[in-house]
Amino acid sequence: MAAALTAGLGVGFAAENVFLTRGAGGAIALALSTVVDPGDEVVFLSPPWFFYEAMILASGATPVRVRLEPPAFDLDVDAIIAALGPRTRAIIVNTPHNPTGRIYPAATLRRLAEALAETAGRYGRPVWVMGYFRICLTATDEMVERSLPVFARAIEQAKSSLNA
Ligand SMILES: Cc1ncc(COP(=O)(O)O)c(C=O)c1O
Repeated sequence: MAAALTAGLGVGFAAENVFLTRGAGGAIALALSTVVDPGDEVVFLSPPWFFYEAMILASGATPVRVRLEPPAFDLDVDAIIAALGPRTRAIIVNTPHNPTGRIYPAATLRRLAEALAETAGRYGRPVWVMGYFRICLTATDEMVERSLPVFARAIEQAKSSLNA
C-alpha cells in the first residue's frame, strides 16, 4: 500500500506511516486523538459530515466552525484563515465535500496549504490537515509533513470514474 500511494501521489509514504482503520471515521478519530491536546482548536467546514463536531469534542479539542456559503459552498480560504489562531491544531478538509458534493479546485487547495503553513510559522506550531484530499498534499513541503490523508476505497473509485 505504501508503494502504491508513493507511485500514485509522488510523495514518499513509508510503510510504518500507513494505518488501516475501520472506515474513514475511524481514521479521522485516530488522527485527532494522535495530534490533539486538551485546549487545542480544530477547524471544520460547515455543513459538515454529521459526526465531526462530536469527534472533535471527544478528542478534547474545541471545534471551530467555518461556514461554506450557499449556493456554491466554495472553500472560503479567507474565512478559514480568519478562524486560525494560536490554539489551532488541525483542520478537517474533504474533497469531494460531504454533504455538498463540491470538489475544490487544485488552486484553492494550494492556497489553503500555503495559508496553513504561514499560520503554523506565525504561531510556531504545526497545523495538521486531515480528511479526504489529494492535491494539497504536495502543495508545500510543510504540507507533505503535516497531512494525515484518508484514502477510502469507495471515494477513490468514485473519483476515478469522475476523472474518466
Ligand atoms: C466526509 C466523511 N467523513 C467521514 C465519513 C465516515 O466514513 P466511514 O463510514 O468509512 O467511517 C464519511 C462517510 O460518509 C464522510 O463522508
